[in-house]
Amino acid sequence: MDDRHYAAFKNFVSVENLQPDEVQALIDRAEYFKRGGAVPKLTSPVYVANLFFENSTRTHNSFGMAERKLGLTELPVDTAHSSMSKGETLYDTLLMLNAIGVNLAVMRHSDNAYYEPLIHTKPYQHLDMGIVNAGDGSGQHPSQCLLDMMTVHEHFGHFKGLKVAIVGDINYSRVAKSNMEMFNKLGAEVYFSGPEYWYDHKFDKYGKFLPIDELVDKVDVLNLLRVQHERHAGDPNEAGFSEESYFKKYGINHDRYNRMKDNAVIIHPGPINHNVELAGDLVESPKSLYVTQVVNGVFMRMAMLESVLRGRHLGGLE
Ligand code: CP
Repeated sequence: MDDRHYAAFKNFVSVENLQPDEVQALIDRAEYFKRGGAVPKLTSPVYVANLFFENSTRTHNSFGMAERKLGLTELPVDTAHSSMSKGETLYDTLLMLNAIGVNLAVMRHSDNAYYEPLIHTKPYQHLDMGIVNAGDGSGQHPSQCLLDMMTVHEHFGHFKGLKVAIVGDINYSRVAKSNMEMFNKLGAEVYFSGPEYWYDHKFDKYGKFLPIDELVDKVDVLNLLRVQHERHAGDPNEAGFSEESYFKKYGINHDRYNRMKDNAVIIHPGPINHNVELAGDLVESPKSLYVTQVVNGVFMRMAMLESVLRGRHLGGLE
């Protein structure tokens, strides 16, 4: 063990309890991996299952790549054909995978806080597995949040005083929940924008809601959010939704893009709805860090997984 400060956690399910120094340690570690720094050598095998009960391109494959780079062994689990289709509970499924030898589960699930019964086990429950949350319903998205923080830190070198606008489908977005709290905690000035019907005043404690045209020329970071139709069942605003109208009222078109500050950036968790949240031909524009976010995601997920290996003393890491 060298004298560097490493983050160490038993599970990684939320950013709620992360302290700024822990976030900085994770960013430093991810930046180290990005520079080509050596990965720690595992002295015993560690087995990981990636359980994605919701679709994913970025998060699933990025965790897969991070696991390979760290030398973890993935046990492929086909969630669509597991015995959960016969009624087996999530807890029992994990208990069985744990008994088979899986040490870590990276999981995405549509239920908010699905991880609570898995990390707070009761008497007679023996689940001994690290849980890494890859997104829960409209709850939390810790790895997206931390790769966003890394990307903003890489561009600006700091967070204090940065003006950040979180724009769009805020109520339904787990990215928004994690990012509003984290940007606020790290000293950024948070603003919100988009349709008022997808904003809840309970978020006022983190920042101020303003029309997009009052924000585009003032903020340093535009954190756009995907419109999440899959979570709108029963939402009275879904029926009247039109892509054209959303783009016109809230989207980043060329006019709004040209009004942004010279050094300002756009981040978006993806997938992007072209010509809804952002003009299609601006996705890879100079101010858009969309691809950089995904590049950084692999290194941040390595740092997160390593912190759980250390927290659980897996692979001989401490
Ligand atoms: N940002 C994000 O979670 O993307 P995926 O759904 O593709 O993983």
